[in-house]
Amino acid sequence: MNIEVINGSVTDVLCDTLIVNLFKNVTAPGGATGAVDKALNCHIRKIIRDNPGCGKFGETTVVHTFGAIGAKRIIILGLGKKGELSLDKVRASTAIAMRTARKLRSKTVATIVHGAGSGDLESRQAAQAVVEGAIMGLYKFDYYKTTREENNKIDNLIIVENDKTKLAAIKEGLYFGKIFAESVNYGRDLINHPAMYMTPTKMSEHAGDIANKYGLELSVLEKKDMLKHGMGALLAVAQGSSEAPKLIVLKYQGDPLQQEMIAYVGKGITFDSGGISLKPSQSMDEMKRDMAGGGAVLAAMLAISQIKPKVNVIAVVPCTENMPSGTACKPGDIVTSMSGKTIEVLNTDAEGRLILADAITYAKKLGATKLIDIATLTGACVVGLGDVYSGVLTNDREWCQTMLNAAQQAGEKMWELPNDKEYLEQIKSSIADLKNSGGRPAGTITAGMFIGQFADKTPWIHIDIAGTSDVDKDKGYNLKGGTGVGVRTLIQLAVNLGQL
Ligand code: BES
Ligand code: MN
Ligand code: ZN
Repeated sequence: MNIEVINGSVTDVLCDTLIVNLFKNVTAPGGATGAVDKALNCHIRKIIRDNPGCGKFGETTVVHTFGAIGAKRIIILGLGKKGELSLDKVRASTAIAMRTARKLRSKTVATIVHGAGSGDLESRQAAQAVVEGAIMGLYKFDYYKTTREENNKIDNLIIVENDKTKLAAIKEGLYFGKIFAESVNYGRDLINHPAMYMTPTKMSEHAGDIANKYGLELSVLEKKDMLKHGMGALLAVAQGSSEAPKLIVLKYQGDPLQQEMIAYVGKGITFDSGGISLKPSQSMDEMKRDMAGGGAVLAAMLAISQIKPKVNVIAVVPCTENMPSGTACKPGDIVTSMSGKTIEVLNTDAEGRLILADAITYAKKLGATKLIDIATLTGACVVGLGDVYSGVLTNDREWCQTMLNAAQQAGEKMWELPNDKEYLEQIKSSIADLKNSGGRPAGTITAGMFIGQFADKTPWIHIDIAGTSDVDKDKGYNLKGGTGVGVRTLIQLAVNLGQL
């Protein structure tokens, strides 16, 4: 989809569908919607009178114009209560309107920047949100469909603005929005592909594509390298599978003179059967998405390497399947991690923390000064926070606040859980240094704190996206399947750090 910004009036723009908006309880719209209303003989006001619900958030009302203005039809997009508008609501409602426009088989769609007028949002940010909502909201995963709806695709999106002084800001919003959203969609693709395709090898090939295209440094550790580094925890998970494990490292150096190096560490379990502690078969198919953290990290690197902020970021993505077999790790086995710490594997289904333990140790060895790990780590997080908030744990207040600020800007909800030493008792083993399962109580916390043992003194944040990495039905800019959660936060954080 080609996206451009033009200076002009909404009534003049030639298109199949024009998206204007309406706040709840407004009976006589002003601004762009008012201008269209005037050109349509006060039709919109009559529609509102007949259906006062059309200003409700996410509501779309289609009106044909029969030549009265440049657009063949308009969509009146409900934005909800005026005082409650947020950038994330702009994102979500734009997504809904764009899908309505696509259903109407529009080829060229025009829109105003929702929220930038009487919504009081900053033009650059509102424009970015509109573009993100449009691109993310139109996402479709149709690689495996033999009948693709090619002729049902929007070719052009025109952002119309009549105030010349806002154009530069809107264009900047478009630039960032496009990179952010396309990276999210890239991450969604990685997640949505079945495990038979998205193997550790394929993950490393995708990382290679990003590296080649945008000039990142790539290195991939093979099994023999992992052995050399003593990555006993990662290898224990990998040993049950016939797919070769890979540890992907992508390096972006936006400020080589600076010592600081941020590591983004993403869980890359390309299929989690549970191993010998086998999962029940119901919904096991969902475990193809157990690499969503790793996918988010790769997708973020795709964006960061294009935006080029002045910051150093290293992506570390340990990839393997977790499978039961004659060679698989057995409950009760004790492994030695790269850090030297020994781990009693009580449950082979608690594999994420094992691979992340070694990945974190390796990131530190590569010179990481600050760490973030992101992982579909615990079912407990799904129970605790559902698909709305991701769970967060940290050992460093300031570092965490910096990340949470970026998450808020990106519109990704995160909730911090207590990193309290008392919980450590649950993961102490009687015969090894640690055990990989702390039982059911506080499952998200003990899993995160297990990883924290390997971060040790290095500032570290853990993000559990088990609940948020996919949705079971279309909702705003998220479509059934992988959401690409975390991608925008990780990009935004790098952008913010580059501005310090
Ligand atoms: N990948 C799962 C967590 C998960 C569950 C992600 C549901 C997405 C949706 C993880 O590897 C896992 O199996 N965790 C176990 C840990 C337990 C055995 C200590 C869990 O949460 O049940
Ligand atoms: Mn598991
Ligand atoms: Zn898992």
